[in-house]
Amino acid sequence: MRTHKIAAIPGDGIGTEVIAAGLEALAICARRDGGFRLEVENFDWGSDYYKTYGVMMPADGLATLKHFDAIYFGAVGAPDVPDHVTLWGLRLAICQPFDQYANVRPTRILPGIVSPLRGVEQGDLDWVIVRENSEGEYAGQGGRSHRGLPEEVATEVSIFTRTGVARIMRFAFDLARSRPRRLLTVVTKSNAQRHGMVLWDEIAAEVAKDYPDVTWDKMLVDAMTMRMVLKPGSIDTVVATNLHADVLSDLAAALAGSLGIAPTANLNPERTFPSMFEPIHGSAFDIVGKGIANPVGTFWSAVMMLDHLGEAAAAARLMRAIERVTADPSLHTPDLGGQATTRQVTDALCAALEGDNL
Ligand code: IPM
Ligand code: MG
Repeated sequence: MRTHKIAAIPGDGIGTEVIAAGLEALAICARRDGGFRLEVENFDWGSDYYKTYGVMMPADGLATLKHFDAIYFGAVGAPDVPDHVTLWGLRLAICQPFDQYANVRPTRILPGIVSPLRGVEQGDLDWVIVRENSEGEYAGQGGRSHRGLPEEVATEVSIFTRTGVARIMRFAFDLARSRPRRLLTVVTKSNAQRHGMVLWDEIAAEVAKDYPDVTWDKMLVDAMTMRMVLKPGSIDTVVATNLHADVLSDLAAALAGSLGIAPTANLNPERTFPSMFEPIHGSAFDIVGKGIANPVGTFWSAVMMLDHLGEAAAAARLMRAIERVTADPSLHTPDLGGQATTRQVTDALCAALEGDNL
């Protein structure tokens, strides 16, 4: 039987609550319809680990993870540890060395969910944002000197390399080509940023020549926020820099109903290293332990993970189960305006997965 080795890293805050829910669902997927096995190992890395050992993950963490087929990640960030420590100590410490350069963020309005945009319904908003995930504004280049003095200085340098930009453009054009509308928007800010962003635009135009069947346009990031709100139907696939896509994907999630349903895949498309799948909502310490975290983003991330592992049928079935659950407003968690608990949503999803009429 096919076996996939999954490293589960629940991390901080509600990460543990939603990953537990996701693993329950995945176990049913494997048993019920897959004909495959999931071998899951749990890692307790994160902010509590940091408070005990002074590091977010052990020194041989990457060597351990390398042998897995995929990583199922919860969230990182705690109120009493600086955010840049937790982020760079765990999430980026995995994304960068494992060259997970393509961050894929699908957004659509699921059945039963109401967009805050007036008159915009299911089908009117169906996007995939491709986030450059290895360089740009998150490259980690920069420094700080003269600390505490009036002349203190800090730099945060954006890095754009031909290799890095070309590969994310190719990935985005390929993805756009695989979707029915074959439509790609390249987000930029080359009016103000005249080096990195101009290179970005030039490479987009070069790569586009290899995709005559994909319609593409270019959009300044500020104007893109307006287009997302005012003309959501004009957008399909989007590619943007690390920071631009970070911001746009939160807006996208809100327009599709809630950050609680939004999934992410951090892909290493060449499969030299494992890819990582996670909800984008973060650790949400304000609701930790209340049992009301929305597990849908984590379920949807599992769909992306199953697809990546080649389990397309199980992925499609899990997506149908998610849509069955969201269609019922009594199964909406508070972020969606409902009163359901993580437990209730998970039980309903698992029941749908077990059922014969999915
Ligand atoms: C995201 C998150 C992270 C990011 C945070 C947790 C640092 O907002 O995945 O979008 O900015 O990349
Ligand atoms: Mg973000």
